[in-house]
Amino acid sequence: NPLSDSMPLDFRTMTGSEQGGLGSLLHVFYAYSAAIRQVSTKLEILDHEYQVLHDHNPVHHLESRLKTPTSIYEKMLRKGLPITKQAMRAHITDIAGVRVICRYREDIYTVRSALLAQDDVQLVRERDYIKEPKPNGYRSLHLIVRVPVFFSSGVEHLPVEIQLRTIGMDMWACLEHELCYKGALDASEAAREMKECAEMIAAADLKMQSAFQKLHQQSLAAGNEN
Ligand code: GTP
Ligand code: MG
Repeated sequence: NPLSDSMPLDFRTMTGSEQGGLGSLLHVFYAYSAAIRQVSTKLEILDHEYQVLHDHNPVHHLESRLKTPTSIYEKMLRKGLPITKQAMRAHITDIAGVRVICRYREDIYTVRSALLAQDDVQLVRERDYIKEPKPNGYRSLHLIVRVPVFFSSGVEHLPVEIQLRTIGMDMWACLEHELCYKGALDASEAAREMKECAEMIAAADLKMQSAFQKLHQQSLAAGNEN
């Protein structure tokens, strides 16, 4: 079983590709990368079905990433966890990450409901930063789900962090993330401006959704007449 090992993790020997310890980390990561593919496939299937049934693709595109060993290690230190696979399995729920960039705000909730309705998707945690944005203006819907992944050694229920956001919310989050590296945003003029931008984008998201709904209804009605 790739993840049952309670041996201490030595991240220092696992980050360089030349180190022998990499093998044991690869064991961990192939499992989580399989969980990413599992969730991505579910989302692609739902998007395709929605296109066929409703002539609209809620998902604009998907992105995914595996958390790097260094970043896992730093998070475990920050949380005061023992550096073992067991602790990692139990407490680090964002090793597998999938980002769902949707066209319109409503699409986010459409995708959320369809995904959570599936028997094999277990909701672990939900944070709605769209209904309650972060103080800096950040908006997205965050889900942590567990999905089964089948290996020759048996089934593993692995956590995947899913971030759902509109194209607009994604634009803001990407630029804000970069600005954070340029220097402290806290309490600055720039932070106030970024927050204003988040609100303008939220207003634009609603306006574009309303325009889409009007046109979409028209074209469905026209389609029905033919
Ligand atoms: P972590 O310990 O960082 O994982 O935080 P958490 O477990 O409290 O989760 P949270 O829901 O706050 O955020 C998890 C992820 O959401 C981050 O790793 C980012 O990808 C994204 N995120 C959260 N807040 C912000 C933000 O203010 N700006 C940007 N750009 N991204 C954010
Ligand atoms: Mg995180």
